[in-house]
Amino acid sequence: MTEQTIQASPGRKLGGTLRVPGDKSISHRALMLGALAEGRTTISGFLAGEDCLATLAALRALGVDIVVAADGVVTVDGVGLHGLQASAGPLDMGNSGTGMRLLAGVLAGQDFTSVLTGDASLRSRPMERIAMPLRAMGAELQSTDGCAPLTVRGGQLTAIEYTCPVASAQVKSAVLLAGLYAHGRTVVHEPGVTRDHTERMLRTFGVPVDSTPGTVALQGPAQLTASAVQVPGDLSSAAFALGAGCLSQHDAIVIENVGINPTRTGVLDILRLMGADIDVREPSSLGDEPVATLVARPSRLQGVVVPPELVPLAIDEMPLIFALAACAEGDTVISGADELRHKESDRIALMVRGLQALGIAAAERPDGAVITGGTPTGGTVESADDHRIAMAFAVLGSCANAPVTILNTANIATSFPGFVPLMQTAGLQLQTTGAAGG
Ligand code: S3P
Repeated sequence: MTEQTIQASPGRKLGGTLRVPGDKSISHRALMLGALAEGRTTISGFLAGEDCLATLAALRALGVDIVVAADGVVTVDGVGLHGLQASAGPLDMGNSGTGMRLLAGVLAGQDFTSVLTGDASLRSRPMERIAMPLRAMGAELQSTDGCAPLTVRGGQLTAIEYTCPVASAQVKSAVLLAGLYAHGRTVVHEPGVTRDHTERMLRTFGVPVDSTPGTVALQGPAQLTASAVQVPGDLSSAAFALGAGCLSQHDAIVIENVGINPTRTGVLDILRLMGADIDVREPSSLGDEPVATLVARPSRLQGVVVPPELVPLAIDEMPLIFALAACAEGDTVISGADELRHKESDRIALMVRGLQALGIAAAERPDGAVITGGTPTGGTVESADDHRIAMAFAVLGSCANAPVTILNTANIATSFPGFVPLMQTAGLQLQTTGAAGG
């Protein structure tokens, strides 16, 4: 990857109406379920970011015909549950934990062996959390010191009842996808609420899924029927625009067509606790997912004790919360967020280090941080190729008193292609140097 840098200069004359790219979680799932279905699935609003494109390439390598039209609509010719073919080489999932973990669940049910690999970040993330339950179902998985490269030798699977030790939609989804192949009832118990896109989409593809609080179950073997999926805008991307709207000293920022699945909206609750003036307007549905227009107005943000139970519902938005806490009045205390250490980077360590580099008092805790709001100075921060760290500091730059330089930002293209030009239209003073990307 060529080095890319963003300079975020001060300026809070922000405002405007925009749309963010499609939801990453939903786009991955639409590709995978479309591949396993009988018939042709169409996906509109698909996120053509690098993460989802890695999943698309992996499915092609497994023998699935997928076409991306000029208008962005993706057509997947499903091969049915047993139509995948062994790939010629390792499947490179790039930077994507979702791609790797969910696909491992699918590959566990195949009668061939696959190797999953990825970039340096992905190769350092824990894979035993999915390997353990998939082994218990009958697949053979070999990790590399607990991480990828991961060899998956699929087999005849048996349904299990599994209690996830961590609140993780990826683990739950890997087990459910393997459960499609298993004889019997696959049951997953979760220690906390996690995003339920897999369950919703499986139902849309004709697979009955039973959900009660904390438990999800399905009966295998199952058959999937192709569908037309409409992907809403990604709330995790919209969050950066929401943050900018709150920091604005000019006008509101309005974001249309954003997914507001209740398992994802912790960020709205946390921001409101901080005093953010946010409206959810015109709620409606796009297929099996709720959507709305979000409006964020200039707000006076206060430090808060973030309720730990909201953290899993805002797990991908926590870097932004760290950044906004630095611009709020008083202390923000974040706890129960230890999963942040296992994302694309150790997000607690990187955010705290970056805030300190900008003159903000921030103290790291094993499962969170304490951040004392103030006026960030200019300076240089390292995003370590983590897209969400880069975007969080890009928003924070608006309220610093001198330019903030963010290093290694090209991976913004994994989740939010077009971030820089879009946020420029809302007034953020961003300048990119180096290779194109976000
Ligand atoms: C995701 C689940 C979350 C989230 C990730 C996407 C998904 O990870 O952080 O960005 O699409 O299932 P965990 O399941 O590891 O919490």
